[in-house]
Amino acid sequence: MAVSTNASEPIRFAYWVPNVSGGLVISKIPQRTSWDADYNRRLAQIAEAAGFDYALTQIRFTAGYGAEYQHESVAFSHALLAATSRLKVIAAILPGPWNPTLAAKQVATIAELTGGRIAVNIVSGWFSGEFRAIGEPWLDHDERYRRSEEFIRSLRGIWTQDNFSFRGDFYRYTNYTLKPKPSAGLPEIFQGGSSRAARDMAARVSDWYFTNGNTPENIRAQVDDIQAKARENGHAVKVGVNAFVIARDTEAEARAVLQEIIDNADPEAVKAFGHEVKNAGKASPEGEGNWAKSSFEDLVQYNDGFKTNLIGTPDQIAERIVALKDVGVDLALLAFLHFQEEVQYFGEQVIPRVRALEAARERRAEAA
Ligand SMILES: Cc1cc2nc3c(=O)[nH]c(=O)nc-3n(C[C@H](O)[C@H](O)[C@H](O)COP(=O)(O)O)c2cc1C
Repeated sequence: MAVSTNASEPIRFAYWVPNVSGGLVISKIPQRTSWDADYNRRLAQIAEAAGFDYALTQIRFTAGYGAEYQHESVAFSHALLAATSRLKVIAAILPGPWNPTLAAKQVATIAELTGGRIAVNIVSGWFSGEFRAIGEPWLDHDERYRRSEEFIRSLRGIWTQDNFSFRGDFYRYTNYTLKPKPSAGLPEIFQGGSSRAARDMAARVSDWYFTNGNTPENIRAQVDDIQAKARENGHAVKVGVNAFVIARDTEAEARAVLQEIIDNADPEAVKAFGHEVKNAGKASPEGEGNWAKSSFEDLVQYNDGFKTNLIGTPDQIAERIVALKDVGVDLALLAFLHFQEEVQYFGEQVIPRVRALEAARERRAEAA
């Protein structure tokens, strides 16, 4: 049984910030999306007006599969916050290059400057070549999550306690008091990954669990698993799911765009990416990971976003979003081909339909 803790809450919308070159698909299809600052500031304003709650930045230090240029996530998040007034921006943070001391201080300062609109996404790493290139040790799969969990416990401790002390294997604090602490509420802590280690960490310490795109049935299995464990731990966690949206006036048009993206895929880059991510997951004790079952076509969108099937007309997409909500999803994390135009279209055509479906369900539930 899905644990739908979210029935009366509107589903939230986030978009992937294209702060990395090449857009969100590994394809040579022409894209009007740009990774530059001006494009992204305008996009954030469009998204906020369109009804998006969050923007998620990416952290990448080097890429061997396209995505050749990257802006750093925390600095970039601040730029987007400065250009908007309601949108929350989630800064991706990678333990290793960051330690919790610096992250806690940086994020507390940005929270102060922006009325508490910054959040963090603690990522655990999947690209061994990147770690080697920057001289960071490449830990085993579950060791990466053990470090991420200590990172999150340290962040929370620093943000909430005076004289914070912590004895971990990766981080240590002795009577540390951060001044000032975040005053406009604690920054929310998101986390990505779907291996056993990722889920268990979410069920213990994260506010939000992000997972790759998938069918409602497969998402339901993950949600049930995580929520059962979270309940055992007395912890509350919400779930966000990735999807690549192709919303067009007709389903045929939307499907044709998907086909064009796949037909123009860069095979070498897709294979190189697939090799890295599958290897990273194979190193987990269960021998799987986020991308264990991803086909070539799935991998053309970095986080299996086609699998969620938000591809069709606004009505079809709205219904599928509500179906995700029914299996316990709290947030849809969305990527687009031409971000500015399509985020606007999504705000005009899809979000109102989702809200109408949610309202109709609420009325039915009250009547029952
Ligand atoms: C929504 C989402 C966003 C992510 N963002 C980043 C990122 O910006 N940089 C990064 O190196 N990894 C990122 N990751 C990768 C995860 O931190 C993790 O390493 C990966 O999903 C493999 O996890 P698994 O082996 O637990 O399945 C992201 C994952 C998800 C699901």
